[in-house]
Amino acid sequence: MWRRYLVWFAHEHLDFRHAEMDSILSVLGIPIKYIEPRSIKKPYWIVELPSEDCAKKIASRSVLVKNFIELWSRAKTTTQLHENLKQSLKNDTGSWGIPHGETELSDRHICPKELIENSCPKNKSFKVVVETFCKHFTMAEKVKKIEGFSYLPLEGPVILKNPDVILLYAEFYGDDPNNVPEQPYDVFFGKLVAEGQRDLIQQHSLKKRRFIGNTSMDAQLALIMANQARVKSGDIVLDPFVGSGSLFVAAAHFGAYVWGSDIDFMMLHARTRPTRVGQKVRTDEESIRSNMRQYGSESKYLDVMVSDFSLPLWRDGMKFDAIITDPPYGVREPTEKIGIQRDNYTLSEEHLSNHIPSKVEYHIQHIYSDLLNFAAKYLEVDGRLVCWYPLVREEYHEDQLPNHPCLTLVANSEQVLSKLTSRRLLTYQKVHDNDSSLPIDTSAGTHNFREKYFSVGEVTRRERKERKAEELAANAVYRITYAETSL
Ligand SMILES: C[S@@+](CC[C@H](N)C(=O)[O-])C[C@H]1O[C@@H](n2cnc3c(N)ncnc32)[C@H](O)[C@@H]1O
Repeated sequence: MWRRYLVWFAHEHLDFRHAEMDSILSVLGIPIKYIEPRSIKKPYWIVELPSEDCAKKIASRSVLVKNFIELWSRAKTTTQLHENLKQSLKNDTGSWGIPHGETELSDRHICPKELIENSCPKNKSFKVVVETFCKHFTMAEKVKKIEGFSYLPLEGPVILKNPDVILLYAEFYGDDPNNVPEQPYDVFFGKLVAEGQRDLIQQHSLKKRRFIGNTSMDAQLALIMANQARVKSGDIVLDPFVGSGSLFVAAAHFGAYVWGSDIDFMMLHARTRPTRVGQKVRTDEESIRSNMRQYGSESKYLDVMVSDFSLPLWRDGMKFDAIITDPPYGVREPTEKIGIQRDNYTLSEEHLSNHIPSKVEYHIQHIYSDLLNFAAKYLEVDGRLVCWYPLVREEYHEDQLPNHPCLTLVANSEQVLSKLTSRRLLTYQKVHDNDSSLPIDTSAGTHNFREKYFSVGEVTRRERKERKAEELAANAVYRITYAETSL
């Protein structure tokens, strides 16, 4: 029997919510019904799933879901919610009911009475938790709300730490902290059936990671990327701009074997300047492999190689299940590739043996056209490329994103970095094998983010200076006026 759930989300990375859920449903092959339109303004969705097991499976992957609650009642007012629950206790039809003539969106749904009665028999401990969105309540106020449910036939003992059953009462007061109503807009009650992977964010936190670099990816975003890539056990995943390997940790957590490459020898050998404040030298403990060991994923670590991405080292026919990567933006690390500026230069025989190649600028548009071409050639069909793409917000147009005829853009979520800049997590799915007859558009991403980032930075610095000067001037006028009126 399909069951109705309240999915309660963390109020973070809102633009990634739909994309993460769609990817998880797709990798697990789970169908879903949305009972009302999905929103990112509200911290919840109401959905129906084929079974409780499906809710548990989704929760075992999601970092943005806080929990799944088997929904017993939902109403616009607390009085109606209690009324629904009381009616439900008389509902022995074994199914859900709505008053005649009302729709699925009615707030007078009643649930089968067994849902409530079977939840807390005498031998099972329980507790009721209160969750409120956009309004804070003291413990005493929360206890009062909990006491309002005393008519429920909950027979087991109340235990606060690890009870057998957790019941949840949730109130939603809108999403505008400057305009909080007296009464909630929506109230919910039900049984917690599964918790999302919020704890994993702490476990994988960069603060506790053995080896990090200046551009290591935040643990939560790395896990979202692995979900976007639909990583599953036994997959082979590549990060061609691997740096300190932070994306390996997330991909290996979901069971993938990981390969990586990077142009920076010092980074791959953990010999760059330490990233942590106060640390003078890197320790022997710091390496990508030791990170993998730290999280129990060493067996998933294939290897990393020093290599320039513009000169791919993989033989034809090699295929990856997913490519997850964060290419350089040229802000905190250089965008370089091997090459020489001079035309028609050939290296003499005598210099060849000890030659250290020179580097030239690797423009962002070339990085992304190389990346999409690479994905078209080396991804399995249906495999995904998940990569970040930096941009100046006011110049963003979806139709200017990098594109390739073998790849379909299936998700595009924005992380705002500053008032003027952001980066987008782009998820492409390979739909065809590379076919030379398909036209390739190499104009992908025709901007130079680095130049714009710094020129925009210039503007904001100048703006800040000007604003400060204006504030000082205004203050001076105020002081003079005040001095004049006080005389
Ligand atoms: C944003 S960082 C990636 C950070 C990485 N996700 C981590 O967890 O540390 C980009 C990486 O691309 C590398 N890179 C720059 N140019 C490259 C090139 N031509 N080929 C391969 N790697 C390159 C840089 O050395 C840097 O480590």
